[in-house]
Amino acid sequence: MDLKKSINERAEQIGQALSAYLGRDDSDFAELLEAQRYSLFSGGKRIRPYLTLEFCKLFGGDERAALPYACAIEMIHTYSLIHDDLPCMDDDDMRRGKPSCHAKYGEATALLAGDALLTHAFGVCVGNPALSAEQNVHAAALLSEAAGNFGMIGGQAIDLDEQPESPSFERLLKLHSMKTGALIRAAVLMGCIAAGVGEDDPRYADAELYARRIGLTFQIVDDILDAREGESPEEKETFLTYMTEEESYAYARRLTDEAVAAVLGYEKGGMLVSFAEYLYGRSV
Ligand code: IPE
Ligand code: IPE
Ligand code: MG
Ligand code: MG
Repeated sequence: MDLKKSINERAEQIGQALSAYLGRDDSDFAELLEAQRYSLFSGGKRIRPYLTLEFCKLFGGDERAALPYACAIEMIHTYSLIHDDLPCMDDDDMRRGKPSCHAKYGEATALLAGDALLTHAFGVCVGNPALSAEQNVHAAALLSEAAGNFGMIGGQAIDLDEQPESPSFERLLKLHSMKTGALIRAAVLMGCIAAGVGEDDPRYADAELYARRIGLTFQIVDDILDAREGESPEEKETFLTYMTEEESYAYARRLTDEAVAAVLGYEKGGMLVSFAEYLYGRSV
């Protein structure tokens, strides 16, 4: 199977599961539920849940058992984008070529829609009926760490600081590893947990290395694509503050080679090799 087909098939699977998790309606707060559905189904690439399912499969687990974890991570990702677009944050009226959540439903509903997705994600994760309570707690702890102060939220706080006292390349790497890297790492490691692969298993370290390398590659390419589209504000530091586009691509190439090397030895690693190459070469 080629990567595109694999991504599309998984996106379908994830979409159906997400839809089921948001299944119930209530006419007294219909708009709140509609706003969550709107953002969950507005064309996200489903990169993170794809990784959860694919790592579960890589290590011999049943992918269906990893589906609740995959949905939980996508809910957290979606909430982070809804809040990121709010006027008090990046003040973006557009997301994925459509009105952002608050532009369509208003700020208060968007705020609550994000809160609801964040809260619901943990219920879905710990309530995974296919796996043990121990696995579910482990997965929830990983998710909480990745989404919290020393993960995505901390990264967002660093990102808001427009004139840092001491900007440096190290600070930029830290920002990226927290803002986007942490959720990508959690997505991969939750797939490992679902397959019964824990920290003391050497395969876990391979997965973590892969996650870190593709996480940074994702961000470097994002910086380059944003700059090409003229979407990088002057005051924002990016990879291109420190390197040319060519040097940035060379940097991302090295990271991608390391990510590929981490999964190349596994029988079912082919799709993850292609996925790392796709993140490096993507143009959207
Ligand atoms: C976008 O992430 C935001 C960042 C973390 C840079 P994605 O590019 O994975 O977003 P969607 O879900 O596919 O739109
Ligand atoms: C969004 O980061 C990432 C998170 C919400 C954690 P950015 O603000 O850099 O990305 P876009 O451009 O809005 O997708
Ligand atoms: Mg932002
Ligand atoms: Mg933004």
